Amino acid sequence: MKNILILLLMTIATPCFAADLTGNWAVKDPLPDGTFRTTYLNLKQDGKQITGTIRTGQFYYKIVESAPAADGFDLTGSMQDGTSERRVKYEGKLVGEELHLATRRRPDAPLMEMVAHRVPAGEGAYPARRPLPELHKVASNGLAQTPPMGWNSWNKFAGRVDDAGVRAIADAMASNGMKDAGYQYINIDDTWEAERDANGRITTNKKFPDMKALADYVHSKGLKIGIYSSPGPNTCAGYEGSFGHEEQDAKTYAAWGIDYLKYDWCGARNLYGDDEMRAVYQIMGDALLKAGRPILYSLCQYGRADVWKWGPDVGANAWRTTGDIRDSWDSMTKIGFSQDELAPWAGPGHWNDPDMLEIGNGGMSDDEYRTHMSLWAILASPLLAGNDLRDMKPAILEILTNREVIAVNQDKAGKQGRRVSQSGEQEVWARPLSDGAIAIAIFNRGSAQAQVSVKWSELRLKTPPHKARDLWAHSDVKTDGAAYAALVPAHGVAMLRVAP
Ligand code: GLA
Repeated sequence: MKNILILLLMTIATPCFAADLTGNWAVKDPLPDGTFRTTYLNLKQDGKQITGTIRTGQFYYKIVESAPAADGFDLTGSMQDGTSERRVKYEGKLVGEELHLATRRRPDAPLMEMVAHRVPAGEGAYPARRPLPELHKVASNGLAQTPPMGWNSWNKFAGRVDDAGVRAIADAMASNGMKDAGYQYINIDDTWEAERDANGRITTNKKFPDMKALADYVHSKGLKIGIYSSPGPNTCAGYEGSFGHEEQDAKTYAAWGIDYLKYDWCGARNLYGDDEMRAVYQIMGDALLKAGRPILYSLCQYGRADVWKWGPDVGANAWRTTGDIRDSWDSMTKIGFSQDELAPWAGPGHWNDPDMLEIGNGGMSDDEYRTHMSLWAILASPLLAGNDLRDMKPAILEILTNREVIAVNQDKAGKQGRRVSQSGEQEVWARPLSDGAIAIAIFNRGSAQAQVSVKWSELRLKTPPHKARDLWAHSDVKTDGAAYAALVPAHGVAMLRVAP
């Protein structure tokens, strides 16, 4: 009798376990662009134990823990990302034929509720690893002899980028002085993709009705156009990646008239380790060379696996050296001031990329944005504006189009600058230029105005330079004496070009 009572209580306490969760489940959320955000749960129930996988966007988790909960169950999924682990937790319960689920994007995010339905076995199954090619050296495409300049949609628009917006940005760049200052590429980041057609050809979603027509339009403005994909099955935003379709995608891009590809690791982490990145990136490097159109190749794998050491060997013209930038002083300086030791790896045709510009996005002061622009110029970084070019105040346009600073960035010797000295929150960086001159940036990272100086001897100059120019004031400055001192605003910069 007692045993029966316990059994009865257990059944009431864990009702979901009466039914069998085993099977393939999917949550399909329609997005305004006509695609779906899909989560697949492939579950196997064995008594109270649930095992299986959860695939959502770019993430693919193995269920490592399951436990009965108040009126359902809890599942914990785990995935490896390079050297770190990422976990996800779902609360679930069966309600009739539906599987009701709740999860959080981040531990501090609100609970997201969703309903899964049974789908046929095999739907949404994660593709298997493909064998990797032998390593070889991909020939240079000859592009990006100076750091690429242009615009990218992600920092400001993320998933809100569309055809009309891209055209308007191209109009703005062609007419507001940016094109004349050297900006050239209009780059569409993630979220343009839809599924593949019956022939495996990638298609565009509703936001981009005709990519060829859009490319023609951008070209008609005297500009170039870029696109985005991933070597994995999914991009970072969960859209279709190029896995298994590299040559086909490269040809599609060429047929559309694409001039630039940003290729983002994302979903590839579920199939390959960081030590395999070079081989994975080589596949697209080869494919682009065969595509029949020069396409700049920009790697995005967050600076892992010492990418600067092998980037040029996969035919890359640039590679991200860090995680994503945000529009804040902390993020920008943490990234920008950490690049010193990477200097030897940059040069004409292949650049370190500390991520796109946040100038004009509103999270920093004009002085901070001047620091951003100056640092990226000294670092010979790609200059990809990330703001709304249709709507910027004159001070921002002035920062982005400062030709004297851009000339430093675009110097044809392509030598990345380095830190020369640091004293507390003040730093001096210098970059040797092709005509023998030196670009110098004097940074004040402190939160109060400060006097910052550079000694000529620190630049290995035996005598004061015969000419020096302030690249933000656009005026010549005096150089007699052993040093140059400037009063630099909080979080600001003074930038000089000195001719020894
Ligand atoms: C990653 C990249 C970003 C951006 C997004 C798009 O986070 O690092 O620059 O491309 O993906 O999903």
